[in-house]
Amino acid sequence: GDNVLRLAQRYDIPMEGACEASLACTTCHVYIKSNHELPTAEPEEEDLLDMAPFLKECSRLGCQIV
Ligand code: FES
Repeated sequence: GDNVLRLAQRYDIPMEGACEASLACTTCHVYIKSNHELPTAEPEEEDLLDMAPFLKECSRLGCQIV
């Protein structure tokens, strides 16, 4: 299915996705309100998230949420 980055782009919600979902940037960083309802992040996503500015407990990379 579509990831959150694609959905945002489709509905004109401003979300940058500089690397086009290839896990090489953090510009698709989002805060997820009910992140307990999502599958947990893969280690690759976690590693990249650690470099994201303003990291929070509920941080995810939009392009990795399917
Ligand atoms: Fe680069 Fe999501 S768009 S990691």
